[in-house]
Amino acid sequence: MSADLSPIDKAKFVAAKRAVDFVEDGMKLGLGTGSTAAWMVRCLAERIREEGIRVQGVPTSTRTAELARQLGIPVVSLDDAKWLDLTIDGADEFDPGLNLIKGGGAALLQEKIVATASDQMIVIADAAKEVTQLGAFPLPVEVIPFGWQTTKALIEETLVSMDVMNRDCTLRMNGEAPLVTDEANYIIDLHLKRIGNPRQLAMVLNQIPGVVENGLFIDICDIVVIGHGDGRVTVRDINAGTVSDDRVEFAPTDNIFADLD
Ligand code: A5P
Repeated sequence: MSADLSPIDKAKFVAAKRAVDFVEDGMKLGLGTGSTAAWMVRCLAERIREEGIRVQGVPTSTRTAELARQLGIPVVSLDDAKWLDLTIDGADEFDPGLNLIKGGGAALLQEKIVATASDQMIVIADAAKEVTQLGAFPLPVEVIPFGWQTTKALIEETLVSMDVMNRDCTLRMNGEAPLVTDEANYIIDLHLKRIGNPRQLAMVLNQIPGVVENGLFIDICDIVVIGHGDGRVTVRDINAGTVSDDRVEFAPTDNIFADLD
């Protein structure tokens, strides 16, 4: 069944599989959200099944919580875990300094809280997520529903003095209605095309009343594991300043493929 995966899914799978090698017995783990993170949850469940490692997982969304429980990963709340050893999550973009745009899956708020409460964050991604400068992917900003149009106008006004290429902002929809996050908020996507100073923008956005959090993750990610469709993986560690190449084999017997729809 693994042979049926598209190259992009293979890239996501090998990145996830390699990242799960960083998990040690007894760890408290942040479990990210998105299609790449879902592979990580499957690979983690496989290690639990096959090696009997004991971990506790703090999911970053209801979707991830459901998947983790379904696959037998012990799930606890962040307040119960208090502090985490490691968070593994996907990203929409990462730059050479491992600054990220996240929130394409609308889970940026819990993702940022969980990653920040971790000793280490590993991002898993296919090679297409790597950019020289952030901003081609629309930057998600979570806002409270009350007065969201005023908040959107304030964001647009703020962007005038920011180093960005474009300033269109759109409310994220789910069909005819605004998309509602796990924390009952809305998402405004900022179509900036290029973000000249992500650190400054992240700080300024969070000062606007009504903004809960933005999808820029600055100085949070420690390691990125980049997967390729042919099984190659590159592990880049920003703190150690190292880059290493590896290969993950697809094992046709892997039963993590067995429970795919
Ligand atoms: C979820 O809110 C996001 O931050 C995801 O981590 C990000 O969108 C990556 O998702 P994929 O792994 O599905 O590309």
